[in-house]
Amino acid sequence: MSNCHCGAPLLPALATIKEIVEETPDVKTFRMVFNDPAVQESFRQKPGQVAQISVFGVGEATISITSSPTKRGFLEFSIKKVGRLTGVLHELEPGCQVGIRGPYGNHFPYEQMRGKDLLFIGGGIGLAPLRSLIDYVLAPENRSQYGRVDIIYGARSAADLCFKHDLFHNWPQQPDTRVFTTIDRAQEDWTGHVGFVPAYLEELAPSPANKVAVTCGPPVMIKFVLAGLLKLGFTPEQVVTTLEMKMKCGIGKCGRCNIGSKFVCLDGPVFTLAQLQELPPEF
Ligand SMILES: Cc1cc2nc3c(=O)[nH]c(=O)nc-3n(C[C@H](O)[C@H](O)[C@H](O)COP(=O)(O)OP(=O)(O)OC[C@H]3O[C@@H](n4cnc5c(N)ncnc54)[C@H](O)[C@@H]3O)c2cc1C
Ligand code: FES
Repeated sequence: MSNCHCGAPLLPALATIKEIVEETPDVKTFRMVFNDPAVQESFRQKPGQVAQISVFGVGEATISITSSPTKRGFLEFSIKKVGRLTGVLHELEPGCQVGIRGPYGNHFPYEQMRGKDLLFIGGGIGLAPLRSLIDYVLAPENRSQYGRVDIIYGARSAADLCFKHDLFHNWPQQPDTRVFTTIDRAQEDWTGHVGFVPAYLEELAPSPANKVAVTCGPPVMIKFVLAGLLKLGFTPEQVVTTLEMKMKCGIGKCGRCNIGSKFVCLDGPVFTLAQLQELPPEF
């Protein structure tokens, strides 16, 4: 839609915040609906794609669309308060207007994942892009096309776990789906697993047979998760991750997200480990 908006690809479309869920002390999920029903209807994202969210007079941020494309009529974004723009966004209330342009970027290779078991590994706000794919795969109309779904997810503390309703209610109730949550350090009211995500992955030691692993989280977590997956016998082609680079235009014009021969906004943010291994070593 708005990536070709009457010949003005950088023009955001107006949207209204309908609902806000406080996920953690610094993450909120915003449910947004375009003011123009025709724009809402024509907005067709794929799991893993992002949008540019604008707060008028403040600026824009690249945010993953966390709702599944199987859920129509709204878009959800889970946003961590880290700086000025996200700080202002966190002050907004239902009824406030924002701008949205997109969808941008590539998407998780959900077509090639059909017939495979899926292993999701997330950390902190990194569960936000994974949630769009998890809900897509678990949607009744798609579930039979995928095998077992295992989700390993960790955060610093129990309060920092995003999407608690999905983690503890919605997802574990789905057929052939298991959710393994962990927190970094023990706390009194937590009876679940304690330890970092990469260590929990090695402890659970999932088999790589007929499986695709999809991971997103803080760079340090991803680094050790990728090493752990290789140690467990996953090939670089079986591992999919997302790169978080600062983006500006989202449409391959400003060069802000350029890595070697790639633009994260066009070629990513989703890459297989095999593709990442071909990029300059700092990535
Ligand atoms: C492909 C992609 C998908 C993304 N998806 C999401 C998403 O779903 N939800 C979300 O909340 N963010 C997401 N981000 C990150 C988001 O775009 C930035 O965090 C946001 O633009 C920064 O907002 P700001 O302008 O308020 O912060 P700034 O004013 O730019 O930064 C303020 C301070 O926060 C630090 N900072 C910036 N970003 C981060 C970060 N991600 N983590 C920790 N510290 C940071 C900066 O280094 C700086 O010190 C995504 C980014 C990319 C590239
Ligand atoms: S964000 Fe401008 S080129 Fe990618």
